[in-house]
Amino acid sequence: MTDTLTIVKHPLIQHKLTEMRDKSTPPAQFRRLLRQISFLLAYGATEDLDLTTRKIETPMEKGDFPALAGRNLCLVSILRAGNGLLEGMLDLVPEARVGHVGLYRDHDTLEAIEYYFKVPEAIEERQVFVVDPMLATGHSASAAISRLKNAGARHLTFICLLAAPDGARALAEDHPDVPIYTAALDRELNEKGYILPGLGDAGDRIYGTA
Ligand code: URA
Repeated sequence: MTDTLTIVKHPLIQHKLTEMRDKSTPPAQFRRLLRQISFLLAYGATEDLDLTTRKIETPMEKGDFPALAGRNLCLVSILRAGNGLLEGMLDLVPEARVGHVGLYRDHDTLEAIEYYFKVPEAIEERQVFVVDPMLATGHSASAAISRLKNAGARHLTFICLLAAPDGARALAEDHPDVPIYTAALDRELNEKGYILPGLGDAGDRIYGTA
């Protein structure tokens, strides 16, 4: 597909994703599963973080032991569905700073329109993980990443639950420097920009607003 795309195929992720796709799964269970999958996705997406060593003393002796190096982590949620992925990732890296980008899709053009933007200071220093469950057309993800780059961000990774081929391609073309992690690459988009077979509207499934 594209060089920047990694599909995290862990059996636990795939099993939980099937439960999430099932339309009979209620919002409370959907949220619980999303939290668990985001924890597992974050585990995959952070495997290349740089390590240094830290001097500590165990109850037995002193020594140098692995610890995260360098850039402070920042998670950026694309509102509103991104918040569903945020929670599980924060379980894994509770010390990360959090930013939010508010974008909505114009229903006619499918273009992303910004209505909110707030990110932590020194964003240029941070390793930024942008999260949104659905990479559909790629418009929102690409707009959010462009906006973050304008604000100074230089080290970015995009994490989603499902990607459509069009969205993954568009994002890779617009931002070839940004790795994409997803749990699955689905077949296609429908004429309204929804992913098939997909799981429906992620925000509605998370918050029960359908
Ligand atoms: N956003 C969603 O929530 N679902 C899709 O299928 C596509 C975009």
